[in-house]
Amino acid sequence: MKTLVLLTDTLARGGQFARNLNLIGSTLLVDVLDPENAKLRLASGTVRAIISDVSFARASTVAALRSHLGRLRVNREPYLCLLHEDTPRGNAYARALGAVRILRADQAAYNLVSALSPLLAEEVDQATPIAADVASADDALTRIFEMGRSGGVIEAGLIASGAEFIESALRKTDVRTWLEVIWRFDDATHQHCLLVADLAAGFAKHLGFRRADCRRVTQAALLHDIGKSRIPNAILNKPGHLTDDERTVMQTHAALGYEMLLGQGYGAEMLAVVRSHHEYLDGSGYPDGLWGADIPDLVRLVTICDIYAALIERRPYRKPMTSEEGFAILEGMTGKLDKDLLQAFRPVATLAGEPLGVGPA
Ligand SMILES: [Fe+2]
Ligand SMILES: [Fe+2]
Repeated sequence: MKTLVLLTDTLARGGQFARNLNLIGSTLLVDVLDPENAKLRLASGTVRAIISDVSFARASTVAALRSHLGRLRVNREPYLCLLHEDTPRGNAYARALGAVRILRADQAAYNLVSALSPLLAEEVDQATPIAADVASADDALTRIFEMGRSGGVIEAGLIASGAEFIESALRKTDVRTWLEVIWRFDDATHQHCLLVADLAAGFAKHLGFRRADCRRVTQAALLHDIGKSRIPNAILNKPGHLTDDERTVMQTHAALGYEMLLGQGYGAEMLAVVRSHHEYLDGSGYPDGLWGADIPDLVRLVTICDIYAALIERRPYRKPMTSEEGFAILEGMTGKLDKDLLQAFRPVATLAGEPLGVGPA
């Protein structure tokens, strides 16, 4: 299979670009400054396109990039340069290196996928039109989780922009296509948050919510598991089932998330979704064991999307459920979920499980 090659001089930054690129195809991330890569060669015909994320500030870095391009671009595969110095000199360097397309690195998060698509000879796939939206929503989510992890203020503007990209994608396509794209993420928490946000956005739209209300639902859903940014990685990303003790730690994410957002200007509904999305109408949920009327409608809606998402998600250690199996489990949770809302959710769940191209536009 052909691969995209991302040449970088800063692995952390390049890694984020590589994640975005993975949305349109497998991507090999190469550090041009790592001596171990100095002789890297790839079999002829296996490179789809090359993207460089390298600063031209140092001559030695430019030389390393030139050497990599010379070795890897044997069949003159398309080369897209992410420009860190948008100056005449920077542009001249990029052209001299053979770039067929130049894109400012600070605008790449949103534009990279769409800039690259026309360079690829074959049609990428059905998901391409929304890949840029998915990449941008994921960028926003990454930064939201970084802020959460570092104890900083979670910027409301970032949540709004993440939700906007989800809504933008939903205007172009349906829940099913979004799912198809986000399955390509390897970070389970990101995948989950983006999935819940999209299901909630689709559900709100299906229920005929006004635009402003749709936006509130999407934002709340995107943020619902922000408390997981404070859960140790060993538990959060454990590749298997949690022990009872680990589950107890994991369950603190709901109250933790609430405490993180408290006093930061978030509305009561948003706070309720973050704190109470694991509550059940029969009082058997956590962290407060709330009952029926104490659980607001918005929370009930996100809870349904949250459980459904967890059931159909793909994990290395278990088979994902089909949409029918997932929905049957929700229906079997007698007394725990809002019955009317659950029935209204059925078409959204069904659409999520349909093969690509079958669902309504
Ligand atoms: Fe949760
Ligand atoms: Fe969740």
